[in-house]
Amino acid sequence: MGSDRTWFLANGSTAGVVAGILATCGPGGWHYFARTVHRSVISGLVLSGARPIFVQPEFDPASGLVGGLTAAAVARALEQALNQANADVDRRIPIKAVLLVSPSYEGVCGETAAIAHLCHRHNLPLLVDEAHGPHFGFHPALPPRALSLGADLAIQSTHKVLSALTQAAMVHLRGDRLDPDRLSQALAMVQSTSPNYLLLASLDMARWQMANQGAALMAQTLDLVKDVRARLRRIPGLGVLELPPGRPGFVALDPTRLTVEVSGLGLTGFEADEILNRDHGVVAELPALRTLTFIFSLGNRAVDGDRLVQAFRALAADRGAAAVESGSFGMIGAIAPQPPITASSGPSPHPPRGLLWPPTNRGRGFGDRPAQRRNHLSLSPRHPGAIAR
Ligand SMILES: Cc1ncc(COP(=O)(O)O)c(C=O)c1O
Repeated sequence: MGSDRTWFLANGSTAGVVAGILATCGPGGWHYFARTVHRSVISGLVLSGARPIFVQPEFDPASGLVGGLTAAAVARALEQALNQANADVDRRIPIKAVLLVSPSYEGVCGETAAIAHLCHRHNLPLLVDEAHGPHFGFHPALPPRALSLGADLAIQSTHKVLSALTQAAMVHLRGDRLDPDRLSQALAMVQSTSPNYLLLASLDMARWQMANQGAALMAQTLDLVKDVRARLRRIPGLGVLELPPGRPGFVALDPTRLTVEVSGLGLTGFEADEILNRDHGVVAELPALRTLTFIFSLGNRAVDGDRLVQAFRALAADRGAAAVESGSFGMIGAIAPQPPITASSGPSPHPPRGLLWPPTNRGRGFGDRPAQRRNHLSLSPRHPGAIAR
């Protein structure tokens, strides 16, 4: 919907993100990124040889939610790079594209429209990793899709939220800032020449389903999650996260993502996840320090919502939530607030490719001692590889 051309992918959004980077950026090219990118972005950088300029996303200390990039932060970073280019031609940074993640895992959408406008003023394509937003735009209560906000390329994991089989995803292209032939070539490099037709057929079915029944299905899902949200809010000791009002970088929240704060029960999200899983068979999509995030999709029914609410009621009762509320629960102070992200922004001094596979005079011959090779691996503290480097 809204794209000039769409590719079906049999290797997830991972393939779409890597191909998007390969199609826009080669060695010596630069991309702008939020720091909170998925590991596929780092793979794209390694494979293309491009270098990142990281821009810090917004953070809301009260909720612990990471937001998107602000247009102001991207504008500052672009200005810095352009000033540097004017001052010293040899240090010119050939910026090729801007890539951002929106929505986040928790459903927070950043300033995509303003950033698209900014990119286009500099004639740069905007690539949006919209892996968690394939349902966007199918109901007025859902955030608009990235393409409708001006993105040139949007990559969506149809399998994550809609009904396609696992691994099945889509890339949507709009406008002429990105060369479709180059994208096709890049996709051919990172995907099998024998794509699984079950996956491709499931994408076609998911597309058909959303085109014909999307609004009605999403209305059902939205009603369900609204009801669950209201019931969870009434359980003492629990919080249900909402969009921090008026904060730059927090433009919208996908209402089908439910993030429950459990620190009021004196538990970390990881501990609560373990108990819910072990005692109630409830599996959260994303446990974090203070919260658990759940995804409601078109496959969920009222019985799933009831089970979730009952499990949380039992958890709160076990933890003595009334005592927590009155402040007499000892552990509550033991959970520190989530620290802000403090990593620096700006041009990365080393291309990720050089870090992963550093040049070495010694080759990889027999007898090389590992200590002489300084290979770096990416460390991904969050499932399934969102990286804050
Ligand atoms: C933000 C983001 N981008 C890309 C991906 C990769 O998606 P896929 O699993 O479809 O390859 C993920 C996976 O969870 C993700 O969270």
